[in-house]
Amino acid sequence: SNSHEPHASNRCVFGERCGSALVDCGKRSVAEQPQSVVAIYPGSFDPITNGHLDLIRRSSRLFDRLIVSILRNDSKQPLFSLSDRMEMLRDVEVDCFEGLLVNYAHSRGARVVLRGIRAISDYEYELQMTHMNRRLNPEIETVFLMANDAYSFISSRLVKEVFGLGGDITELVPASVLARMRDRAKQLNPLRGES
Ligand code: PNS
Repeated sequence: SNSHEPHASNRCVFGERCGSALVDCGKRSVAEQPQSVVAIYPGSFDPITNGHLDLIRRSSRLFDRLIVSILRNDSKQPLFSLSDRMEMLRDVEVDCFEGLLVNYAHSRGARVVLRGIRAISDYEYELQMTHMNRRLNPEIETVFLMANDAYSFISSRLVKEVFGLGGDITELVPASVLARMRDRAKQLNPLRGES
């Protein structure tokens, strides 16, 4: 038979040798499966970037319901107000929260917190948060998606910095966000406007 065809049988092509003989994987029948999985995608989103959008697109296929939840972090002095940040997101459920993420997630009936990882440098911070959140509420699992390599260098912080210094960010954020960044620059610096 053609070796490129998918295996018709349930048996490993290597037979007994590789030790991966297919055993009962414990997969539950549909009736036993838990109810719909709600995931929270939390963050500052100041502003939303194409990297965030990619993660939203990919993860919305994995969960029954995805809620993008923006932290009300006034102390961080965000560039955009909470309502501006909420308006920047379209075609997705958007909410905001304050206080502990796990408490908020629980209140929304979410069992999953979704986070994106771009590079090793994200890992340590995410690891700390994951362990802390698990300690606070072991019922809630943090799930990570690796950022698409095309977006692995984008961050809200760098987007703001590059825009502020006159660099081109058209490929990094949606057009609507770029328009709002221009407006915000004019508001904050009416004499110079944007370049
Ligand atoms: O986009 P960010 O700034 O990396 O998102 C960080 C966020 C919002 C996920 C994190 O700061 C958070 O969960 N804040 C809520 C307060 C909280 O629960 N802190 C303890 C986390 S271990």
